[in-house]
Amino acid sequence: MFLVLLGAPGAGKGTQAAMISRKLGLAHIASGDLFRQAVEKGTKLGQSVKAYMDKGALVPDEVTIQLISERLNEPDCKTGCVFDGFPRTIEQAKALDKMLTSRKEAIDKAVYIEVPEEELLKRLSGRWICRQCQVPYHELTSPPKVPRKCDRCGGELYQRSDDAVETVKERLKVYFAQTAPVLDYYKTMDKLIAVNGKLGIEDVAEAIIDVLKPKSVRAG
Ligand code: AP5
Ligand code: MG
Ligand code: ZN
Repeated sequence: MFLVLLGAPGAGKGTQAAMISRKLGLAHIASGDLFRQAVEKGTKLGQSVKAYMDKGALVPDEVTIQLISERLNEPDCKTGCVFDGFPRTIEQAKALDKMLTSRKEAIDKAVYIEVPEEELLKRLSGRWICRQCQVPYHELTSPPKVPRKCDRCGGELYQRSDDAVETVKERLKVYFAQTAPVLDYYKTMDKLIAVNGKLGIEDVAEAIIDVLKPKSVRAG
């Protein structure tokens, strides 16, 4: 199964992708995480994307598509994966379709995690991320058991520099201008499903798992 998680910055893509991929035994491909790791390691890729990320702008399509194409060729993605933060432009969505078509696969569903804008700002201002496994926490809604320490791997938690208020505002602008059209792309293909992202973390995960079931066995 190949899934795309869509939603604004702070909607819960990373949180849900980590849960869903674990529950369904799929790989988790997060473009933002891959870029941040490259920046942290100071690789050539990291040096070339840092300025875009600091501004809250998108990394050019060419660079992003190349990164995802390489990641998708790794063995853990053979039977499927959850895309988190990619595709973010129509160009990227088309490139992803091409990559999958060439291996006789296709995106099964694009899940849109819908969250109102004022809630997004609250979520991003309280977010802490694990430096090792990238799992997000929130100081109010999902705090770690031990302060600044990841429950899952013991890694150190930090706050993303692009979660500063001004950069968040820019990321939201970029989202509405460049990424929101991707929703229509999947809608036209009849693959888009919206879930209420305002619910608690577990409830959103359950809603996603539920919409992935064939219609005949869905709850409600
Ligand atoms: P990226 O890392 O993808 O950031 P983003 O899309 O802005 O999304 P976030 O990671 O901020 O939010 P999220 O939806 O994952 O929310 P989370 O689960 O953490 O991209 C960063 C940058 O990299 C971009 O600006 C760009 O420069 C570059 N980039 C990346 N991909 C690119 C691409 N494809 N093309 C070009 N450039 C690209 O949750 C947020 C907080 O809320 C957490 O604290 C969490 O604990 C909490 N929370 C989650 N769910 C709930 C809930 N249900 N209730 C209460 N709290 C919740
Ligand atoms: Mg994320
Ligand atoms: Zn961790």
